[in-house]
Amino acid sequence: MHLGLDLGTSELKALLLDGGHVVATAGAALTVQRPQPLWSEQDPAAWWSACEQVMKQLQSEQPSAMAAVTAIGLSGQMHGAVLIDAAAEVLRPAILWNDGRSEAQCEVLRQRVPTLSEITGNLAMPGFTAPKLLWVQAHEPHVFERTARVLLPKDWLRWRLSGEAVSDMSDASGTLWLDVAKRRWSSTMLEATGLSEAQMPRLVEGSAVSAQLKPELARQWGMKTSVKIAGGGGDNAASAVGMGCVAAGQGFVSLGTSGVIFVAGDRYAPNPQRALHAFCHALPARWHQMSVMLAAASAITWATRALGFKDEGEMLQDALSLSAPAREAAPLFFPYLGGERTPHNNPNLKAAWQGMSHAHDRSALAYAAVEGVSFGLLDGWQSFGQTAPTHTLSAVGGGARSDGWLQLLADTLNANILRHEGATHGGALGAARLGWLADGGSESEVCTQPPVSKAFEPRAAEHSLLATRHERFLGQ
Ligand code: XUL
Repeated sequence: MHLGLDLGTSELKALLLDGGHVVATAGAALTVQRPQPLWSEQDPAAWWSACEQVMKQLQSEQPSAMAAVTAIGLSGQMHGAVLIDAAAEVLRPAILWNDGRSEAQCEVLRQRVPTLSEITGNLAMPGFTAPKLLWVQAHEPHVFERTARVLLPKDWLRWRLSGEAVSDMSDASGTLWLDVAKRRWSSTMLEATGLSEAQMPRLVEGSAVSAQLKPELARQWGMKTSVKIAGGGGDNAASAVGMGCVAAGQGFVSLGTSGVIFVAGDRYAPNPQRALHAFCHALPARWHQMSVMLAAASAITWATRALGFKDEGEMLQDALSLSAPAREAAPLFFPYLGGERTPHNNPNLKAAWQGMSHAHDRSALAYAAVEGVSFGLLDGWQSFGQTAPTHTLSAVGGGARSDGWLQLLADTLNANILRHEGATHGGALGAARLGWLADGGSESEVCTQPPVSKAFEPRAAEHSLLATRHERFLGQ
């Protein structure tokens, strides 16, 4: 039995996996704090409470499964900076992946390290960890001076679970401190941020053993006292493992708080011109490219509230039942509620509905919102250019529940979209699988593609309507 823990932005999820079978899941909601424009933070203490809550829930609902767990895998929101002092106290709220405060520090890094994109495979973007640390150095020097260690969100959780400071290659790729081709910390990038390797966690592959669960926690949660913890992965690499996207060319589209298109590869292939990310995969000797938009399902949640729908399901249903002429005449929506990464790399971009008239009602605005998020994903997909070898993508994340949205995506991207069983478990399933690999499972038995529960094919007439509207979207 293996346990996956996925520390997301809106929820911490736990999943118990017995071979190919999901035995149970549990979740605890998380909120984001935005105390100033561009800021996005969470208190790590809230992550720990969420972790305790789901572990206690699984202990009471699944006592025999919990007692049978032999390894845990971790997955989590990437890039966030958790700063701890020499006594392991958290020094300030974690600065998250969708925080846009450090644009000026990205410029500083670019100037200090002209080879930054070659080493890290990426552009310097405010979402990444290194510029966040330069911001702390400039604005909170007392905090920077006391920083003994910088940990990514899931690695801080590992620290609490095991007392060990360890990261995995896929998540470490999002810091801008990793030499992504060589899979080791880059002293050049660390020095440019005023840090040293002593402040970094040890690195392991995602499928390797990283630590052991503390026996006192194991006893509290009714588990064995010999549970291994796998390296795990950033949530996207972990989702890829969950959906069996492990060979070159296999890809997925993630409809979570962020919107991601991920394509696995067997070599390091940076393509930073269009703000694509090139990161290590959570499995040895593999890499991946991905486009990241900052507000995907979160833009749908925002529009649901702003337009007064009961919930996202009602909003999506209303939006996607519009007739073709009404869709053709609908306003456009620019989904940049928190700036954008791929392809714009601009934390200051803002969202807007554009082209409204007396004729438009909330259904037209709702349609525009879903379409605008899909266009954001299309911009990401097109950023792969000739390097994108696949035209079939698995769908993952909460948004993958909606048939209507997956069909719209197939039509927009002109790609086949597959929903596999377990698609909405996201990183938690992959995390449990990484636990299984660290526990001796072989890649061929663990990293299979779950059965397809529904397939969505692009429709020519719909694609052409959307392509015309996408041209207008790009022209604005
Ligand atoms: C990836 C990214 C997001 C977060 C969301 O670069 O920033 O997908 O990992 O959890």
